[in-house]
Amino acid sequence: MDLLSARIDLDAIAHNTRLLKELVGPTQLMAVVKADGYGHGAGRVARVMAENGADSFGVATLQEGLALRKAGVEKPILAWIWSPEQDLVEALAVRIQLGVPSVRHARALVDAGVPTRVTVKVDTGLHRSGVDEADWVEVLTLLRDAEHITVTGLFSHLACADEPENPSNDRQAENFRRAIDLARELGLEVPVNHLCNSPGTLTRPDLHHELVRVGLSLYGLEPIPGLDHGLKPAMSWSGRITAVKPIRPGESTSYGQTWTATEEGWLAVVPAGYADGIPRSWQGRLQVGIGGKLYPQVGRVCMDQIVVDLGANEFGVSPDDEAVIFGEGGMSADALAAATDTINYEIICTPTGRTTRIYEGGVQL
Ligand SMILES: Cc1ncc(COP(=O)(O)O)c(C=O)c1O
Repeated sequence: MDLLSARIDLDAIAHNTRLLKELVGPTQLMAVVKADGYGHGAGRVARVMAENGADSFGVATLQEGLALRKAGVEKPILAWIWSPEQDLVEALAVRIQLGVPSVRHARALVDAGVPTRVTVKVDTGLHRSGVDEADWVEVLTLLRDAEHITVTGLFSHLACADEPENPSNDRQAENFRRAIDLARELGLEVPVNHLCNSPGTLTRPDLHHELVRVGLSLYGLEPIPGLDHGLKPAMSWSGRITAVKPIRPGESTSYGQTWTATEEGWLAVVPAGYADGIPRSWQGRLQVGIGGKLYPQVGRVCMDQIVVDLGANEFGVSPDDEAVIFGEGGMSADALAAATDTINYEIICTPTGRTTRIYEGGVQL
């Protein structure tokens, strides 16, 4: 029995992939599985996504791309965070395509002389990574003139896609269109271009271009609170209660004695702490689901444990019962994000440390 587990529902991943694929119609669907598939286990979920409509995969690093290949993913993979100082040989040998975010990156690929397919990452207003407009001509010309390099298209990333009314979305869209026109004027075909992440995909069909890069929604979460596209959350995180013990009025629990019982009652101890990803700042904001009922977490979050107030324990919570930190039977990732002043993206990336992933549904491998 695992003390701490993240259950991943592969049927939910399959459902979400099919739903997104249907929603974007003829547009290609790139499934973003960086950060180990947003915490779901990239190799395992990617294979389910591939079987249910994903046309290609997006990762941040070369290592993530290599791990996908090792997991048996055959479809195209694009990696967009890499350094010209890195050894690219292994990644290029297994056909990992690269995003090119600067002149320095373009030069490195030209000098490498190895056949490579690339997508140029143009900065259209995010001002994070991406080729500055002043360098567009230089990068596009360098890549165009290198016979061993194939430019498949351009991509860019929206700063405010989760605020559909924000005028910066249209400004970026316009800049992106200008970059595509420029590439074509310079003689590059750029057949596959992409701008939209999950919120862009769901709210701006006019900006889909030839491909959308979707992450969060494939894991079953809405990128904008209040939207409902019928997605199914794929992850639940839970621990097995290690102790249920009495507490008397005036007694406190956990370090610093920051919570004191006002009545006779019961506490449950759950073996998950900040070493497993629960930030100390969640103190008093997290409610843990046990037997379908929510109970408040109380006192300091420790390295390995949290304490939950069971009140009078009228439902007879016992050691080894499952305590859901988020997901089915507990707070939703959305509710926990709202309670802890963050976004659902961060919540699903939380389980780390001693958590074991348990896969349910899908094709049993
Ligand atoms: C460049 C890029 N494209 C696409 C995505 C996917 O975004 P989302 O999870 O909102 O679909 C990300 C994620 O942050 C990203 O960094």
